[in-house]
Amino acid sequence: MGGRGRPVRGPEGRRILVLHGPNLNLLGQRDPSIYGSSTLADIDRALAEAADRRGAAVECFQSNIEGELVDRIQSATGTFDAIVINPAAYTHTSVAIRDALDACGVPAVEVHLSNVHAREPFRHTSLTAARCVGQICGFGPNSYLLGLDAALAHVERLPPPH
Ligand code: DQA
Repeated sequence: MGGRGRPVRGPEGRRILVLHGPNLNLLGQRDPSIYGSSTLADIDRALAEAADRRGAAVECFQSNIEGELVDRIQSATGTFDAIVINPAAYTHTSVAIRDALDACGVPAVEVHLSNVHAREPFRHTSLTAARCVGQICGFGPNSYLLGLDAALAHVERLPPPH
């Protein structure tokens, strides 16, 4: 039993939506000194395997278009248990993604490959992190795996639906 007599539920059957923002389709070729050599397909494969080991499932989606990311966030309501999102450059600019995260009611974890706080000042501000449970950055592709773990752990702590 969990705290206050609540049963602790495992992550079995949890569905996690993974969203990748603009230019992350170029991973592997894009600035490897910052973003490393893994491709987006490598990251998605590692996420699928990690989720599978936890009895959960991920659906991964990348877009260079802000509105497509907003559409996916909106459609997560009632469909996914949590979101892991790397909004990429939209992190620093997108009121629309922030508002969608707010409105969707699905807990989200923000992830970044690089340590945005150690980079240019404009990357130090995230418009989206305040609408997430938390932010993980600086661990390369592992940021996504840590984000998946954090999302599943967060969901397990939520009270069961009535
Ligand atoms: C990034 C960091 C952003 O500042 C940048 O615009 C990206 C990638 C990261 O994962 O480190 O595109 O989100």
